[in-house]
Order: sequence, then C-alpha cells, then structure tokens
Amino acid sequence: MLKEPVQIKNVTLKNRLVMPPMATYKTAGDGKVTQDILDYYAARAAGGNIGLIITEHGYICRQGKAGEKQISFAADADPESLKKLVDVIHQNGSKAIAQLNHAGSAASEAVTGEKPVSASRVILPVTPPMGDGTVPEELTEAQIAEIVQAFADAAVRAKDAGYDGVEIHSAHSYLLNQFYSPLTNQRADAYGGSLDNRLRIHREVIAAVRSAVGPDYLVALRLGGCDYVEGGSTIEDSVYAAKVFEEAGVDLIDLSGGMCRFTRPGHEEAGYFKDMSLAVKAAVNVPVILTGGVKTAEQAEALLAEGAADLIGVGRELLKNPKWADEQLA
Ligand SMILES: Cc1cc2nc3c(=O)[nH]c(=O)nc-3n(C[C@H](O)[C@H](O)[C@H](O)COP(=O)(O)O)c2cc1C
Repeated sequence: MLKEPVQIKNVTLKNRLVMPPMATYKTAGDGKVTQDILDYYAARAAGGNIGLIITEHGYICRQGKAGEKQISFAADADPESLKKLVDVIHQNGSKAIAQLNHAGSAASEAVTGEKPVSASRVILPVTPPMGDGTVPEELTEAQIAEIVQAFADAAVRAKDAGYDGVEIHSAHSYLLNQFYSPLTNQRADAYGGSLDNRLRIHREVIAAVRSAVGPDYLVALRLGGCDYVEGGSTIEDSVYAAKVFEEAGVDLIDLSGGMCRFTRPGHEEAGYFKDMSLAVKAAVNVPVILTGGVKTAEQAEALLAEGAADLIGVGRELLKNPKWADEQLA
C-alpha cells in the first residue's frame, strides 16, 4: 500500500510516504532559505521516492518566531528562496506543503523582541523547558484576530511560492496547541473552557486561511491530539477536534503529540501514536497521517494494512539518512 498513489483535494501524491516537518534552523537569522537548507531538502527529494514533503515550521509573524534561525512565512519572508525550496522538492515528483506556526509561549523575547504570549498566563508544562521561562501574557481578543490574519497572510505567501498546500501547526506545545490543551488554556472567555471554545481559534484560523487561499487549495492541520498526561488533552478530544477541523474545511489531518511533543513517554514502537490515529481515522473522511517511531518500510506497510492511517510519516530516519526512502522503497 505504501507505494500506492493517493489523491488529496487536487493533489495526487505518488505514494503514501511523508517526510514530516523537521526544523533545520539553518537560516542566517533573517528567515531566508539558505543554500544549506536547499541542499538538505534536495538530497531527500532527489530519488523521487517521498510522496509528500512537509517543510519545517516557519513563523507567521515575528511574535511567533520559535528560533533565531527559523524560516519565515511572515512579512519578512523571501519569496525567491521559498520558490527555490519548492522547486527542489518538486524536482522528481514529490509534493510540498509548508508548515505554518506561531510558537506562543515557546518563543523567547531574546529572539522576537516581544514578550511571549499564550492562551493564558501559564508556563509551558514541557521538559526540557521551552521559551524564556517567563510567564506569558494572555492574548486579548484583538491580538488573537491579528494572529488569525497572520496565518492567512502566511498561507498566501506559501501558495504564491508554489507550495501544493499549507499545514497549520497545532502540535508540540506551540500556540494553537496551547489553546487546545486544558493544561495551558485557562481562559474564561469564548476561547477557553469547553473543548469547543478551546477550538475557536482553530476554526477562525482555518476559515481565514481557506478564504485567503481559495476553495481548491490543500489545507492540512497538524494536531498534537493527546498530552498523554493526567488532566491534559485526550484521545477523545482529538477525535472531536478532528471532526471539527473536517467540518471547517481541513483536507488532511496530521497527528502527533501535544505537551509530550513528538515523542511519547514509555513508547518507542513503530506508530507510537497509533491509538490516537485509529480513533481519529474511524471518525473522519479526510486522510490521516501517522508519524512516530517508524524505521522501515515494512513497519509503514503494516500500519497502513491495519488501517491506522492513510499516510505514514518518517522523520528521524530521513534526517539521519537522506537516501532512506530510496533504499527502503526500491
Ligand atoms: C530535529 C527535529 C525537528 C523537528 N521539527 C519539527 C517541526 O518543525 N514541526 C513539526 O511539526 N514537527 C517537528 N518535528 C517532529 C517530526 O515531524 C516527527 O513528528 C518526529 O520526528 C517523530 O517522527 P519519527 O519517529 O519518524 O522521527 C521535529 C523532529 C526532529 C527530530
């Protein structure tokens, strides 16, 4: 099944292998894609064996910049180097999606020049710590509206650069994840409390992005669906959220962890978020990506065969070995 093509919206992927977003943090600090970054993606795309490459998280506005050397989809984005990045991914038939992110309280003032912000005044419950360790400021409704617009503007920049789609980042403890998780969202207004309220910003971002890129463009969302910790978000929450996203117009759901980030304590098996992806896949009609712990094509096949997902992400193996897909899928 891994080698079977799949159509998502108007985009046909040649197979079901996904290179998930992995931050290289290799810009010169100006958000521009460098030759180093182009070479890194070119080496993985060259064999033409990765159906979909989702590029590393890029910041949508300065306030949401996660690292000094992160790539930019914000106002300072460099359209020419983004086009080159898409071109190297397209060179042998892979498709390209841009992951768009606001880091929220995982950002630090040293990088952004602004006070870190979040859903609530809560320090991120993550190990190792992220951000600058200060209590973030709670976003006002007006500031939330600005962030929603920044996601839409960033999506247009990605579309203009030739990307086949965009992915809204709501995993790994970044801003949208901070709204989703009850561990970090303690708001008393329309953006907090019930799960439906904690997903309000997501619905607004999806609607704004959709209206900016048009009805035919592929919009994905990466959900840190479960925190796997007492009092955190649950698999039931992720099922509910996935249905909300589908209803709101998301074409592809990419699953990962929440406050546990992209690993899961006590689990290293192939497909360690499979309990979540099985539940989500059963509840939605849009395709689902499962990532985490896959080291061989055989393991990816087995996960597809048991219906755990429609596409399988392989991250660290591709990071270590640019020819992993060429060797495994040959
Ligand atoms: C160095 C590194 C950087 C990462 N950067 C991102 C990122 O920018 N956005 C994201 O959603 N996930 C990021 N991840 C998580 C990966 O997309 C993936 O979910 C994780 O590596 C687990 O999959 P694996 O077991 O196949 O490596 C990163 C992972 C690594 C190792």
